Amino acid sequence: MGQRCADRELGDVLLIDIVEDMPQGKALDMFESSPVERFDARINGSNNPADVKDSDVVVVTSGIARKPGMSRDDLLTTNAKIIQSVSDSIKENAPNAIVIMITNPLDVMSWVAHNRLGFGKNRVMGMAGVLDSARMASFVATELNCSVKDISPMVLGGHGDTMVPLPRYTTVSGIPITDLIPADRIEAINDRTRKGGAEIVGLLKTGSAYYAPGASAAQMVESIVKDQRRILPTCALLEGEYGLKDTWQGVPCMLGKNGIERIIELKLSDDEKKLLEASNEQYVDRLTQELQLI
Ligand code: LAC
Repeated sequence: MGQRCADRELGDVLLIDIVEDMPQGKALDMFESSPVERFDARINGSNNPADVKDSDVVVVTSGIARKPGMSRDDLLTTNAKIIQSVSDSIKENAPNAIVIMITNPLDVMSWVAHNRLGFGKNRVMGMAGVLDSARMASFVATELNCSVKDISPMVLGGHGDTMVPLPRYTTVSGIPITDLIPADRIEAINDRTRKGGAEIVGLLKTGSAYYAPGASAAQMVESIVKDQRRILPTCALLEGEYGLKDTWQGVPCMLGKNGIERIIELKLSDDEKKLLEASNEQYVDRLTQELQLI
């Protein structure tokens, strides 16, 4: 993610990690690629959370990652405590930052961070929909043997088995994939999308996905720091949108210099609404568990 932000010259990048010397080593290696790739961005590493000082955008990946056989929920207690402490450091040192959460389970971690930070809801969001949509777009391109460039995907809901891929709103040069791909193949694409993270975890065996999540977060950062106002599926606090209240769900958001500039409400069919409600129920279940823990 840091490398992709630097490549695009979105600003200077600081990598923070608790492992001694590791972020410094990675940062130096990335920075040393800059004369070859010809990008102007400083990349530094640190072990001190306070060095987040005065950052414009903070992308939080802190926490333990999934191993094969673990669900994102298995990470809940450990990561919630880590996110509380990271949030305290951001609040103290970068009080004006826009915060993008990546740590899983993503929806609950966004809630933990937002509560602890006390920032406006436009300044705290989660990255999942861009990644889930990118996975869906990859599978659609493979199915149609067409360019990924023409695919505009849309996935709503939580970042888990109940996420809601939306074939009606997933288009290839404006053509809904429902007009291009048979229903049973679309269902297979939806299913693979829902399990996209686990597919990578199963293959890697010792870690979770890396490149596509990094690219997805960098796209959100770019839209914010360049005030592009792109509409990207983003995990946001809903306060009545989609008929849901006080809940964190992935929905299309316009991202600009103030963070979430606007939440877009799609017209959903009854079936799509039911799927989003089921995703929300999963979030509420997680949160009920979470409330007892912290
Ligand atoms: C994934 C992790 C980042 O879906 O949640 O790969």
